[in-house]
Amino acid sequence: MDREWLSVEIRSGAVDKQRVDAVVVPMLAGRVLTESGERLRAEGHPAREVIRSFLRRMDITGEFGEIAVLYQVPGTFADRLVFVGAGDARKLSLTRLRELSARVARWLDASGAREAAVYLAELDVRGATIEARLRAIAEGAWLGLYRFDRYKSEPKRPHRPLRSLYAMAPSRRFIRRTEPELRLAEAACKGVWWARDLANEPANVCTPSWLAARAEELASSRTQVEVWDKARLEKENMAGILAVARGSHEEPRMIIIRHQADERAPTVALVGKGLTFDSGGVCVKPAKGMDEMKFDMCGAAAVLGIVRAVQEADLPVNLIGVIGATENMMGGGAYKPGDIIKTAAGVSVEVVNTDAEGRIVLADALHYAAQQHPDAIVDLATLTGACVVALGDQASGLMGNDQALVRALRRAGEATDDRAWPLPMYDEYQEKIKSDIADIKNIGDGGAGPITAACFLSRFVGRHRWAHLDIAGTAWTTRDKPLARKGATGAGVRLIVEYLARLR
Ligand code: BES
Ligand code: MN
Ligand code: ZN
Repeated sequence: MDREWLSVEIRSGAVDKQRVDAVVVPMLAGRVLTESGERLRAEGHPAREVIRSFLRRMDITGEFGEIAVLYQVPGTFADRLVFVGAGDARKLSLTRLRELSARVARWLDASGAREAAVYLAELDVRGATIEARLRAIAEGAWLGLYRFDRYKSEPKRPHRPLRSLYAMAPSRRFIRRTEPELRLAEAACKGVWWARDLANEPANVCTPSWLAARAEELASSRTQVEVWDKARLEKENMAGILAVARGSHEEPRMIIIRHQADERAPTVALVGKGLTFDSGGVCVKPAKGMDEMKFDMCGAAAVLGIVRAVQEADLPVNLIGVIGATENMMGGGAYKPGDIIKTAAGVSVEVVNTDAEGRIVLADALHYAAQQHPDAIVDLATLTGACVVALGDQASGLMGNDQALVRALRRAGEATDDRAWPLPMYDEYQEKIKSDIADIKNIGDGGAGPITAACFLSRFVGRHRWAHLDIAGTAWTTRDKPLARKGATGAGVRLIVEYLARLR
């Protein structure tokens, strides 16, 4: 991480009593104030005249994201009083609150404020508890402040970055009540930061062996990390990942993580696509945008981020992480269209397009995961461009063989705003991957791209409960967003951490 972690605490206390560099007070559309603002405007308050004359001016109207600052307001102890526009009261949601908090945190970070008290939880988000609002405020700040600038000789960093944020609650009792949720959110956001860090690294740094070395850093008394090199993969008949790796000078790695938290707890296998670069292979991709294929390991990065979050939050769940890490290149030894591969599961695959490589790597990884007999398998993969066409950057594609699992993941996605939307997996779709010459082929015959890819994966999970997240559209962003600057987003991490936390 290129920035120190932000400390977030829940506190309570009056807006005019905070000795901090900045106090942040919301203003709704139409210049409507909430409790803290009203308190400063109240009859007899030393700040009254300053606030009134400020409100008479039109510096801000309360539109979402607007910011105006007053310095050293009489009757207050903070250096700055920051009004932030929260927009239309009826449009308030946890999503908007998270985004607002992210904007505020970035603004504070650049302003030179080290410590700030924010009163955004006063915003009345219907249907959301105060605890949920406080958590959303914290998440927004953490996610919004992430930065990846380690390759800049002169990174544009604030000289006095924001260090502490106090999310202000209406009373002291919320401090303890919010604690468990806040710690879970903090662990998840740290997982997101790490996943982003790993994925933002260029492919000349983030190679399969480099990724394996990062995974090994997770090892602890309760977490074992095993790395299989090429020789071991050959011994284990993992012909899928080996075929994809053959066109590259970089050796592939299968990364296996075992996290034991509690014997009686369920075991979830997490499988990640770790293509550290996907050129398309012999069926090479167009040059435009090919640089983005360094992100083809975002599924793997998410798995690592999730394991780290589970460790940090001390969640009572056992994990098996399986990552297939390789490049997809077009060297002289590369696999070719028409090749037939006998995967570790014994299923023969006709390679029609070498660019549909993720599913071939995942075939072996999923097979390994299934052999461990977990209670559920969830894979994360930047699997299809067609998923980007279908859902854009607003939701990951969600498919699986168990509706209860799919529903649970979808709910966790809605709760965290790390959303996933279901696509159907009717049996008829399976026909599309029938091969004339082998058991299955690695692409369909047009249409339903994300689904035929999932159909392919479904052949390698045995009878286990399984779900698949196609994060092709969500794993990275090509424009700055409130919760993620341009680059990797960490999609899937908060969703899965929430899902795992709800298993209890
Ligand atoms: N990694 C890509 C999928 C991808 C493309 C993710 C664009 C994000 C943005 C995957 O390996 C791939 O190339 N899939 C092909 C499959 C096709 C050949 C059936 C695709 O989507 O074009
Ligand atoms: Mn590809
Ligand atoms: Zn790929």
